[in-house]
Amino acid sequence: MEEYTASEERYNKMKFRRCGKSGIKLPLISLGLWHNFGDNDDFENARNILRTAFDNGITHFDLANNYGPPYGSAEKNFGKIFSQDFKKYRDELIISSKAGWDMWPGPYGDFGSRKYLIASLDQSLKRMGLDYVDIFYHHRPDPETPLEETMGALDQIVRQGKALYVGISQYNAEDTAKAAKILKEQKTPFLIHQPRYNMMDRWVEDGLLDTLEKIGIGSIVFSPLEQGILTSKYLHGIPEDSRAATEGSYLDKSQITDAVVKQVQQLNEMAEKREQSLAQMAVSWLLKDERVSSVLVGVSKVSQLKDNIEAINNIDFTAEELRKIDEILKE
Ligand SMILES: NC(=O)c1ccc[n+]([C@@H]2O[C@H](COP(=O)([O-])OP(=O)(O)OC[C@H]3O[C@@H](n4cnc5c(N)ncnc54)[C@H](OP(=O)(O)O)[C@@H]3O)[C@@H](O)[C@H]2O)c1
Repeated sequence: MEEYTASEERYNKMKFRRCGKSGIKLPLISLGLWHNFGDNDDFENARNILRTAFDNGITHFDLANNYGPPYGSAEKNFGKIFSQDFKKYRDELIISSKAGWDMWPGPYGDFGSRKYLIASLDQSLKRMGLDYVDIFYHHRPDPETPLEETMGALDQIVRQGKALYVGISQYNAEDTAKAAKILKEQKTPFLIHQPRYNMMDRWVEDGLLDTLEKIGIGSIVFSPLEQGILTSKYLHGIPEDSRAATEGSYLDKSQITDAVVKQVQQLNEMAEKREQSLAQMAVSWLLKDERVSSVLVGVSKVSQLKDNIEAINNIDFTAEELRKIDEILKE
C-alpha cells in the first residue's frame, strides 16, 4: 500500500464534544477494534478502516488487551498499522486500552488486581509499540478485589507515565460513585466511563448517566448498533458476511428473532422518513444526549464507517419521533 498522508479536510468533517469537565474533546464518533482487527481478519481492510476513520476526523481508537481473536492480536495489528501510517500523527490521537477480562492463564490474568492491570498494560504497550496510552480502563467490575486496589493500580499507571487518563467500563452507578471518590482522593485523572448503550439496551438511563454528570466525567458508549441488529442488514435474513453468521462471535443467530426483525423493520421505516439509514438513526439517537461524549462504533467495512459518520449531521429528534421509537421497542 502507498504511503499514507491524512486528509487535510479531516477536522472539517468531524464534530467534537468535551468529555465531562476535562480538557479533552472527543469526536462524536470513535472507532472500536474489538472485531475486524484480529489475525483472522483482512489486514488491508483493517488498515483502510483506520485510514478512513482518521481522514474523517475520528481521532479516537479504542482497544483492549484481549481484542482479536486471538487475544492480543488486535493490538499487535494496530501496532503494525500505527508504525506504518499513524506514528507521525501520534499527538493527534487518543488511543485507549483496557484490562479486566480473562487474558492469560492463572489467577493473575483476569479481573482487577494491581498485579494484573500493571502487567497487562505493559504487554499492551509492547504489542502496540507505544510509550503510553491516552486512556487506560478497568474493563469490568471485579466483585472480589477491593476497589481501593484496582483504583490504586490505575493511579500507579498514570504516575508511571503509561497512561494520561483513566476510565472504567460497565461499572454500575453506585460502584462508579465509589470509584470516583477514591480516584478523587488520589488525584487520579478520571476521564471517562464506557458503558453499553443503545436504543435496545438502556440500563444507563437508570442512574448511571445522572451519576456521571454529577461527578463531571464523560461517557463513550459501546455496541451502539446492538452489534449490527440496529441496521438494515438483518431485515431479509442473515447475510453470510455478518457478525451473526460468524462462528465464535458474541452475536448469535438466535438473537435475530422474528419479533426483533419486526421492530427493526418499523425503526427502519422511521429512519427512511428522517432521510437516514437505520444505523445513522441509532447513532444519532445516542448523540441527542449531551452526556454521551462519543459513540463507539465497530465496523467490518469502510462503507459502514462512512455510513455511520454521516449520523452526526442529523441528531435532532422531535418529541413525537422519540415517543414512537419507545413505542416500537416496547412491543
Ligand atoms: N467496554 C466493553 O466491555 C466493550 C464491549 C464491547 C465493545 N466495546 C467497544 O465498542 C466497540 C463497538 O462495539 P460493537 O462492535 O459491538 O459495536 P456496534 O457498532 O454495535 O456493532 C458493530 C457491527 O455492526 C455492523 N455494522 C456497523 N455499522 C454498520 C452499518 N452502517 N451498516 C450495517 N452494519 C453495520 C458490523 O457488523 P458485521 O460484521 O455484521 O458487518 C459491525 O462490526 C468495540 O469495537 C469495542 O471497542 C467495549
